[in-house]
Formats: sequence, C-alpha cells, structure tokens
Amino acid sequence: MRNIAFNQAGDRVVILDQTRLPGCVTYLELGTAEEIYDAIRRLKVRGAPAIGICAAFGMYVLSLSMPRESYEEFSKEFARVKEYIGSSRPTAVNLGWALQRMERIVSEHPGAPVSEICVKLKEEALEIQQEDMDMCRRISEYGLSLIKNGDGILTHCNAGPLATSRYGTALGPLFLGKERGMEFKVFADETRPLLQGARLTSYELEQGGIDVTLICDNMASMVMKNGWVQACFVGCDRVAANGDTANKIGTSGVAILADYYHIPFYVLGPSSTIDLNCPTGADIPIELRPPEEIKEQFYEQPMALAKTKCYNPAFDVTDHSLITAIVTDQGIFRAPYTESLVGITQI
Ligand code: MRU
Repeated sequence: MRNIAFNQAGDRVVILDQTRLPGCVTYLELGTAEEIYDAIRRLKVRGAPAIGICAAFGMYVLSLSMPRESYEEFSKEFARVKEYIGSSRPTAVNLGWALQRMERIVSEHPGAPVSEICVKLKEEALEIQQEDMDMCRRISEYGLSLIKNGDGILTHCNAGPLATSRYGTALGPLFLGKERGMEFKVFADETRPLLQGARLTSYELEQGGIDVTLICDNMASMVMKNGWVQACFVGCDRVAANGDTANKIGTSGVAILADYYHIPFYVLGPSSTIDLNCPTGADIPIELRPPEEIKEQFYEQPMALAKTKCYNPAFDVTDHSLITAIVTDQGIFRAPYTESLVGITQI
C-alpha cells in the first residue's frame, strides 16, 4: 500500500504513521481538517513532497463536506481551510505549492457545480502524487549518474520513499542502483532530535537490502576522515533562487564537513521544492519546534531540567557555495545557481 492514499469509500486520507516506525506499521485515517493539520504538524506524515501530497488529498476529502449551495460559499470555505492546513509547517515549500494547485482548480472553475469541482480536485490530488513518483524516478536516474558501484554515501534525515511517493530523492539513486545490481555503503546520520535517520532511513534501506550503517550526527566527521564517504546525498525542503537550501537541522554542518574533506555534497529534490520567489536562504521561514523534543522525546525520563531553555530549529540553511550540484527531475544544476535554476519549469 502507498504511504498516502484514499480509503475505500474515498472520503478519508489514509497515511502510514511515520512516528510509529520502525516498530509498528500502522495506518491512520484522517477525515477532518484538525486531523490532517495534526498529522502534518506532529510528523505522522513528513518529508517535503509527502506533506504536499497529504495536504492535496486532504483538501479533496475536506471539500466533500464544504457548503455546496453556491460556488462563492464553497470557494470561501476552501480558501479558509487551505490557509489552516498550510499553517501546519512553514519551511517546506511543497506544502504551499500543492495547496495552491488545489486552489487553482477551484478558481479556474467559477460558478461550476461544486460536485464537478470536487471530481477535478480528486484528479488533481492523484496527479500531484503521480507526478511526484515520476519526478523521483528522474531524480534517481540523474543522481545515479554521479556515483559508482561500491561508493560510500552519507545521508542526513530521511529523503526516501516515506518522504515522497516512491524511490525518494536522496535515497532514490541508491534504490535504483540496487535494482540494477549495484552496491553502496550508506552512512545514515541518526538526525537529532527526531531521529528520522535512525527510525526511517536505516529502516527503508534495510528493507531494500542496501548496506546501511547508522551513526550519530557527531560521527560524520570521523567516517569522512576515514575515507569511507565518496559523496553526500541530502534532500531539501526549500531551495532559494540563489541555491541556498533549507533541509533538516544539521545538514549545513554535514556540508561544511564535506567541504573540508573535499567530498562532493549533492542536494536532491523535485522541481516543486525550488522556490524562485525566494531570493536567498535568509528569506526561508525556519520552523521552531518545542523543547520537549530535545529533552524528553524518546527518553524514559527527561534528560534536562524542566526549566532549562532549548533552541530547537527544525531546519537549517546550507549556503549555496557548499553545494556541488542540485539534482532535480529536470537535470543536474550547478553554480552559479542564480543563472542555472531560472531554467526550471514549474507547474
Ligand atoms: O522535519 P521533516 O522530517 O519533515 O524534515 C524532512 C527533511 O528535512 C527532508 O530531508 C526533506 O523534506 C526532503 S524529503 C524528500
């Protein structure tokens, strides 16, 4: 089953609950705006493309119970709910991008019967998911062209099938290579504080039969120094027009280390993650999350005093100067990014 789907009746979104992995494979049904907001906010569904897909599926499901008497009432309510779902997480541009595509379906059919608009909304949500699968496949092909059999690859956070629809972005080339009989040695950063690398990346790679070694984030320098890493592959939540890239907190540190050890550092993402309206990384909103994630989550008892202050940004920005190339479904883009990325076509 896909990680995001409709239930059999077609009136709920079904997601694989990523917070329960790797111990439990549990599916959740989401039927209200609050449930969809909460699932995204609490990372039950996570990864930039996946939250966009979930939001698109959610808007269709929610549209089924919106006022149907007039187009005006329907579109007003649609805009209100879209704003609410869009406020669940600020950094990944894919969320706003997918919601805008859904709203465009409404605005492009003024006065049409609501039942007809709902049919088109469902088609659009499924189209967004299908496009993501196609984009990930193309990213995987381009990414695979940058590495060779036997290479050691370091990755941070989770940018695999769970975070997308299929293949993934940063992990896509590794799954595609595996299908073609290639072997890689992957080092997965555990990714403090929410452990996406430990819980999700090492799980996905183990399932796919790919050699994976889990390391704590502070061990990346050591494995690079040992000569075990030939390339870093990471995903992205938003790429600014100058190539500055927001991704999971800790990514910029990996890029700085890779630069020091002369290891190529590649960012892989769909064209929907490139935000040409965002001039630089300084313009990317960075999500701040609660201190409990650092002090309590995953521990049997708190690891710091209740009064101890925490700073918990969910993402950081890697400066474009540290990025060897940005690998998208439309090709491999290199510096100067202000010139190369303008060639990206967006839907
Ligand atoms: O907070 P998360 O787990 O949603 O952060 C996810 C990442 O940073 C991923 O690397 C990014 O979304 C790319 S997923 C293809």
